[in-house]
Amino acid sequence: MPSFALHTYGCQMNVRDSDLIARRLRAIGLAQAETEDEADVVIVNSCSVRAKAEDKALGKLGLLCATKRERPGRVIGLTGCMAARLGPDIFTLLPHLSFSVGPRAQSQIPAFVTRCLETGAERLAEFGVLDAPPETPEEARADLARTAGTQRGKAADHADGEQTVTVAAGPAQSFVTILYGCEHRCSYCIVPSVRGEEQSRCPADILTEVRAEAARGVRDVCLLGQSVMRYGQARFQWPDAIPSPGRYTEPLPRLLEYIAREVPEVARLRFTSGHPSGVTPELVRAMATIPAVCPHLHLPMQSGSDRILREMRRGYDSATYLDAVRRLREAIPDIAITTDIIVGYPGETEADFEATRRVMEEADFDNAFVFKYSPRPGTPSSLLPDDVSDEEKCRRDAVLLVDQDARGLRRNQAWIGRTVEVLCEGPSLRNRARWSGRSPQNKIVIFEPTDAARPGQLLSVRVTDARAQTLYGEIVTA
Ligand code: SAH
Ligand code: SF4
Ligand code: F3S
Repeated sequence: MPSFALHTYGCQMNVRDSDLIARRLRAIGLAQAETEDEADVVIVNSCSVRAKAEDKALGKLGLLCATKRERPGRVIGLTGCMAARLGPDIFTLLPHLSFSVGPRAQSQIPAFVTRCLETGAERLAEFGVLDAPPETPEEARADLARTAGTQRGKAADHADGEQTVTVAAGPAQSFVTILYGCEHRCSYCIVPSVRGEEQSRCPADILTEVRAEAARGVRDVCLLGQSVMRYGQARFQWPDAIPSPGRYTEPLPRLLEYIAREVPEVARLRFTSGHPSGVTPELVRAMATIPAVCPHLHLPMQSGSDRILREMRRGYDSATYLDAVRRLREAIPDIAITTDIIVGYPGETEADFEATRRVMEEADFDNAFVFKYSPRPGTPSSLLPDDVSDEEKCRRDAVLLVDQDARGLRRNQAWIGRTVEVLCEGPSLRNRARWSGRSPQNKIVIFEPTDAARPGQLLSVRVTDARAQTLYGEIVTA
């Protein structure tokens, strides 16, 4: 039986796509290889969001293609956002690549793998129509559970970090895409051109996937969309047949209520990424009142300078952003709010940067992912001079991280002495004797396991210590 390995870069959406690809490959009789070295088929699921993310994937593919000298029959495939961005040009860069498939055409992968294995074919490519859903209708409805824990997405590896897609002991958390594509067209962003038009999945298909996840033991489901609060806004009609006891009229609150009601085994529901324009009174009410919806929101701010926000075409200013944060905190006092920031956008002055520092302090973020601006071909901002030096971008990045560490530590210290509900994930990556899990706020909690502790279990843990990114505690026995 031929074996496969997947190597995933990028955001949670890619982690979820890799999981689906693994499921498709198992369905055609391939086995997941123990190690990448022994795999007959290796697929790199790539990200284009910054040049560095592409460089990593290209470097990895170069090494993999070189192994074909000794193993000419080995199949090396590319998928994900970089496949869509580079199109057929990838075969000039990597002549021995077997196939390349865009994110909206991933259902083609099994057919390509089969052809490559059977005929030794190379250079198969399908970039897909950017308004088609990546799943076939049959796949969308298929009640097939994903096999245990190919997903091990870590929010900390967000965007251009390398996600290690390993087999986890128990799948505590997983991702389910509800909105494909993006139509925001922020000036710096490649995503709309590689992921295409927005398309909302129908609630019944989402429910099928969430149910399948629950059946394999997943307790924490994060619903994904690049701009998730636009779920149901374009080319979509919420089915009248699905009632809303909470009298929600907006699609995302309705969906949250529907999933919470229909799949009670999923103890925790999240959604990402947010946008201040989507923080409507209804959504805040849904977050505050539906018990399964977690007190946690990733709300990318990008900049605190109104001028830069305008240039970025983000559609809000710092006051609007802070107002959304204030309304969330008023309704959900324990909420954790995390963000993304870009430093060194073209023309970002010291004053713009200081504005970002101030607004970050005012927003009082629990965590922030800071990215150095990277011009992406074809985006509006790529026409502007990339005039903040790399050295200065690094300095601004470091300053924001120091600020955020102090803020994160202060916010986490406020949890000391409190008992939190922890969804147990298993042995911690750093110290196998201790276990890690997550609080409803999505904070990592490290604790000493008892013999009875199992991944996927909900435990009460009293917080005894805190670092900027982590809480430490002990299990409270009833
Ligand atoms: N859809 C999400 C973001 C997806 S990309 C949202 O809008 O919230 C993840 C993050 O990468 C973005 O929030 C942004 O901070 C960063 N990013 C996107 N394009 C970038 C670029 N050209 N250079 C540097 N960072 C970028
Ligand atoms: Fe990119 Fe903006 Fe869409 Fe996010 S909302 S994916 S930053 S265009
Ligand atoms: Fe990267 Fe594509 Fe996600 S560009 S951040 S993998 S949507």
